[in-house]
Amino acid sequence: MDPHMTEWLNLAIRWVHMIVGIAWIGASFYFVWLENNLNRSNPREGLSGDLWAIHGGGIYHLEKYKLAPPKMPENLHWFKWEAYFTWITGVLLLGVVYYLNAEIYLVAPGSGIDSATAVMIGVASLISGWVIYNLLCNSPLGKTPLLLGIVLFLALVAAAYGLTQVFSGRGAYIHVGAIIGTIMVGNVFFVIMPAQRNLVKAIEENVEPDPSLPAKGLLRSRHNNYLTLPVLFIMISNHFPSTYGSEFNWLILAGLSVFSILVRHYFNTRHGSQKFAWTIPAAALGMVTLAFVTSPYANKPVAPVANVKSVQHGGEVMTEAQVANSDGTIPFSQINQVIQERCSVCHSATPTHAAFQTAPAGVILDTPEEIKVNVPRIVAQTVTTKVMPLGNLTQMTDEERVLIGEWVEQGAQIQ
Ligand code: HEC
Repeated sequence: MDPHMTEWLNLAIRWVHMIVGIAWIGASFYFVWLENNLNRSNPREGLSGDLWAIHGGGIYHLEKYKLAPPKMPENLHWFKWEAYFTWITGVLLLGVVYYLNAEIYLVAPGSGIDSATAVMIGVASLISGWVIYNLLCNSPLGKTPLLLGIVLFLALVAAAYGLTQVFSGRGAYIHVGAIIGTIMVGNVFFVIMPAQRNLVKAIEENVEPDPSLPAKGLLRSRHNNYLTLPVLFIMISNHFPSTYGSEFNWLILAGLSVFSILVRHYFNTRHGSQKFAWTIPAAALGMVTLAFVTSPYANKPVAPVANVKSVQHGGEVMTEAQVANSDGTIPFSQINQVIQERCSVCHSATPTHAAFQTAPAGVILDTPEEIKVNVPRIVAQTVTTKVMPLGNLTQMTDEERVLIGEWVEQGAQIQ
């Protein structure tokens, strides 16, 4: 598809995805908050509690019924379209960004799978994710929520590991996010909504509602509640190459998910007790630890000097004399050659790659000055992680990455 049109399609869908996603998660956080803040000390007959709030210049009084009001209101608000539209736009976005240009964004460099296969794996992962999740919840494990939670978490980590073997880091991350998103929407569509419909119907017909449904609905909505924070991280993870670009990207994702689940747990329980207050400093400490263990300074790529001195460029082996300046530093001409060869199909004022009409992320690397201002970003993308060139389409070698790292360490001179 024409890159300009793809970009606008991407923009429109992403914008709507964000809006409906905020509406969905916002409403869901709000109702959890309501539930946790109900004043249950002296409820009126038939109520489980009530709550007063002020917002936007108005004072609100909300009441929660134990089961239902004596007479069903004419206008009962349901919250579901936010969830459905978040999923629909999410899948469209996955298609526009990752499936239309699978060889750039989705396929792991060197994995040897073609775009069509990658797309099929992606789609299959979403469907099987829901099926497996649903089976696990309905199995006897469903009776032991904590154990179920642990099994589900491990299954998702295994999925993340598996996906990183065939997809690029970001492709794997986004699919874990999409699997979780699909599970969450599946919960709304297949379990929570039917339970609510059954409840309303039973009340209207004045019969006993099926008691097993609300319990199922509650378990699924608990899961949704704990899954929101990991999924939100995944949605912004594209900005953080040190996470998805790491060799241990799946473990980093697992770590961040644990921290966010801990934080969520505190917010879910803090109204009753402060027993889980420790989770906040624990999560913060976990983040700091993760930042240190993933640090490029801790895991500096070893620069084998021998390699630097016999760098290969387009099949031509350089001699030591060609590589080093008289003072032993790497000449900029070497770096420029690597960048023009490996990056400029995309990162140019006039990209020649068919998928790009303008330089991606606005990063233009045509002139020495443009390269110089982008040095920290280039290092982050190509030396400390290998996320650029995207999909390693231009087949940058590890020696070239080391070469850039050395040149930057020597001061990144451009004359
Ligand atoms: C196949 C096209 C392609 C090639 C080749 C390519 N890039 Fe990129 N680059 C992209 C795209 C697309 C983005 C935007 C990524 C996104 O959407 O997050 C990007 C983003 C970047 C960014 C900005 C990341 C940020 O947000 O800070 C830098 C820096 C970068 N690339 C450097 C390079 C370097 C250096 C090379 C060569 C070694 C290279 N790229 C090769 C497509 C490419």
